[in-house]
Amino acid sequence: MKPVRLALLGCGTVGAEVVRLLHEQADDLTARIGAPIEIAGIAVRRLARDRGDLPVDPALFTTDALGLVKRDDVDVVVEVVGGIEPARTWLVEALRAGKSVVTANKALLAEDGGTLHDAATEGGSDLYYEAAVAGAIPLLRPLRESLHGDKITRVTGIVNGTTNYILSSMDSSGASFTEALEEATALGYAEADPTADVDGFDAAAKAAILASLAFHSRVGAADVHREGITEVSAADVASAKAMGCTIKLLCIASRVSGPSGDSVSVRVHPAMIPRTHPLASVGDAFNAVFVEAEAAGQLMFYGRGAGGAPTASAVLGDIVAVGRNRLAGVRSASESAYADLPVRPMGEV
Ligand code: NDP
Ligand code: HSE
Repeated sequence: MKPVRLALLGCGTVGAEVVRLLHEQADDLTARIGAPIEIAGIAVRRLARDRGDLPVDPALFTTDALGLVKRDDVDVVVEVVGGIEPARTWLVEALRAGKSVVTANKALLAEDGGTLHDAATEGGSDLYYEAAVAGAIPLLRPLRESLHGDKITRVTGIVNGTTNYILSSMDSSGASFTEALEEATALGYAEADPTADVDGFDAAAKAAILASLAFHSRVGAADVHREGITEVSAADVASAKAMGCTIKLLCIASRVSGPSGDSVSVRVHPAMIPRTHPLASVGDAFNAVFVEAEAAGQLMFYGRGAGGAPTASAVLGDIVAVGRNRLAGVRSASESAYADLPVRPMGEV
């Protein structure tokens, strides 16, 4: 049986768990895909970094990510490095060459997702990114597929685990902002640069991806009204509590009807919500997203939104999907042909 050969770009919090899961579930994955998965190479920044007892041949590590992507024996590229460049160059190269791509890189998708989708169309390749929004929660696949025949009107939720961890800790145990951020970082929830979390950039990127899929539009990070949680003080949290409320960083993406047709409005900001609201009980680094659609009504998605293993679970699901597609000689429908529902100027709600 010819194996599916995989290049893993990045072996940090998420990448290391991807390696572990690929190893632990090798037999099941072979059965589910119809062929074994083989790691062709693992690109990292520091070859000398101690990677503990990772179940992988050390000879597979390289610092030449682009060289690895270009290798003829690589079928699937899994990118868990993050950032815009050089990740964009690697993924465009892979997609144009007909390789399947699985990525958790929400920053890149929100900044320049169109370029990736166009490269996928050009190369006839698969581009999957379930892990990019809400960690382990199957959310993008339902938006891309299950709800495709419905008309989504609103997507609301908590999509950043780090800020939810911080706000929940400040609320429940009176932890300081700094202490809670340090804990969230130690637990592997925060981005390499945690200002991406606390200033709302990460949630805004996820909001852009959700809105693009929900509304068949091209929403970029820059289209999202964004406020982070750095201005939320212990006194704000206590005042909210005294009023029977709690503070959460919310992402709200809505279809807005106007005289000249529908448009999309997307925003991310802290909000005070009653403690009786279902989102109020979402603690730790959990995420929860409500989707409202005309025919389906209200749907709620809930689960672990950050951390190595939950995110790796979503990555593995995508690896199975692209592996099966390769064997069947098919690819998923491209999102390049978006209907381009216009995005409302920021500030207009
Ligand atoms: P880490 O910082 O833990 O890991 C990044 C990895 O990329 C490291 O292995 C690092 O190498 C490697 N790397 C960095 N720069 C380069 C380079 N130029 N060439 C080759 N390798 C490089 O990040 P995470 O695992 O936390 O996140 C990875 C991606 O997943 C990001 O896009 C993030 O937004 C996303 N994500 C993360 C989640 C989480 O909970 N952590 C959840 C959902 C998505 P080295 O090991 O040598 O330092
Ligand atoms: N830093 C992100 C978060 C990781 O805290 O939600 C998951 O995308």
